[in-house]
Amino acid sequence: MRYESQRVAYPYFVVALLLFGLQLVLGLWLAFNYFFTVPQAIVDVFPFATARAMHTNLLVLWLLLGFMGATFYAIPEETGSELAWPRLAIVQLVILVAVGVVALVGFLFGWTQGRPLLEIPRPLDLFVVAGVLMFLANVGVTIMRARRFTATQGSLLAGLVFLAVLYLFGIPFYRNLAVDWYYWWWVIHLWVEGAWELVTAALVAFMVIQLTGVERRVVERWLYVELGLFLFTGIAGTGHHYYWVAAPKYWLWVGGVFSSLEPLPIALMLLDTWRHMREARRPLRPRLTWVFLFGMAVLHFIGAGAFGMAHTLPQINYYTHGSQVTVSHGHLAFYGAYALVNLSFFYFAIPRLKRFPSDEYRSTLGHWAFWVMSLSLLGMSLAFGVAGVLQSYLERVQGQPYMVAQQPIRFWMFVAFVHGIGVLAGAVMVIAHLLTLRPEPRVEPAAEGARAT
Ligand code: HEM
Ligand code: HEM
Ligand SMILES: [Fe+2]
Repeated sequence: MRYESQRVAYPYFVVALLLFGLQLVLGLWLAFNYFFTVPQAIVDVFPFATARAMHTNLLVLWLLLGFMGATFYAIPEETGSELAWPRLAIVQLVILVAVGVVALVGFLFGWTQGRPLLEIPRPLDLFVVAGVLMFLANVGVTIMRARRFTATQGSLLAGLVFLAVLYLFGIPFYRNLAVDWYYWWWVIHLWVEGAWELVTAALVAFMVIQLTGVERRVVERWLYVELGLFLFTGIAGTGHHYYWVAAPKYWLWVGGVFSSLEPLPIALMLLDTWRHMREARRPLRPRLTWVFLFGMAVLHFIGAGAFGMAHTLPQINYYTHGSQVTVSHGHLAFYGAYALVNLSFFYFAIPRLKRFPSDEYRSTLGHWAFWVMSLSLLGMSLAFGVAGVLQSYLERVQGQPYMVAQQPIRFWMFVAFVHGIGVLAGAVMVIAHLLTLRPEPRVEPAAEGARAT
């Protein structure tokens, strides 16, 4: 950490981690509902849809707060200057957290717009817009004042502006539901397969440059290629959601072809991370930060690339649309790409924010946490996947009614729940570890050599 104002990142990380924990508790409750018939009296006061809205909105909130904190950490280093208004960054955090709390309580009382992932009601949207404008102004003015532009910074800012603009499309409500879902997909799809990928690519580039000492030029070269590919395939790939919203038939082709190309930039990111790891001028340290970073690259590819590809063609999506196959992909992709890129960044930044003597920290608990959480999540996604294939076959090939088809699916939802306990246990370890990170007392020879040079 070279600039005092980078400190504002820390409260963002802490809040994000706590919300992550809460998100998982609600996830377990959802899975429990799938194999255990909860008494109606409980459903009346706490319906499934309410818990689901809390689970998914908490996800979006903690990931975005993590991205914002990471940006506040990265921008001063990239521009070589203090943040324009560090206090405003704290005010912004307070506003966004307040919106989150009001939204969660509001859901309990049925105050919701009803659209998955974007449930928060219109008046609260206005506060979100205000918070995001503060954020963009803070980052934008810092960059303009410093007059030092880098590709990493450009990609980060472009991703964040794109992300904010798309949110606006989710605010109006269209009486024609087909139109409403059409724009809903603009937000959801173009977020995760466009804007958030740009932010992720920029954050990974930033970490790789700082951790490996590989030349900025080399890292940023692939950043251009990836960004171009992401935008090209991601934007046209939106068509893979248009089969079911009464859009013209040619979208079947456009969506199928372009979204099949989407795993390409993700694979490139995996390969580049691997290449930079091999080309690194310094030893790959701290080890755990790299475990998270490389784990992100691998699971990003499997969850988004492979699991996304599996149901993207219209011939398959015809059967699997909106089933547990989608849920399986949603979990592995969100976790692999965006939960892990955030956690990688927290591991990267916290030792620096706390000014540890070297970047090394005690990591045993973190290694356990990574493997318990990631393997459990993989198992959970596979269980959702089996449930989804069963569901698609029973409901859509055989034409069984929904509740009849649910019976054999129950077992797989139970398997998902058991793995979910592992996910929560791993996440609690990550949260506890990150919030109590301590410097490594014994400096290993390799690290000592690196620091001496
Ligand atoms: C304790 C672990 C978790 C369990 C047991 C769990 C369970 C569930 C369940 C049962 C649903 C509802 C599916 C439906 O409506 O049919 C759901 C939705 C969702 N969860 Fe989780 N979840 C967990 C962790 C996570 C994590 C770590 C993430 C992301 C990083 C995540 C992201 C999502 C998303 C994006 C949806 C909406 C999926 C869709 O619309 O298809 N969940 N979760
Ligand atoms: C990190 C990137 C990605 C994330 C976080 C992500 C997440 C999600 C989520 C949460 C949904 C469910 C939305 C809902 O109905 O509630 C979804 C749907 C879908 N995703 Fe992804 N996705 C990613 C990348 C991809 C890629 C690269 C592909 C294709 C190669 C893809 C293909 C699809 C398809 C076809 C659906 C629609 C499923 C249906 O019709 O029910 N996704 N994605
Ligand atoms: Fe998509």
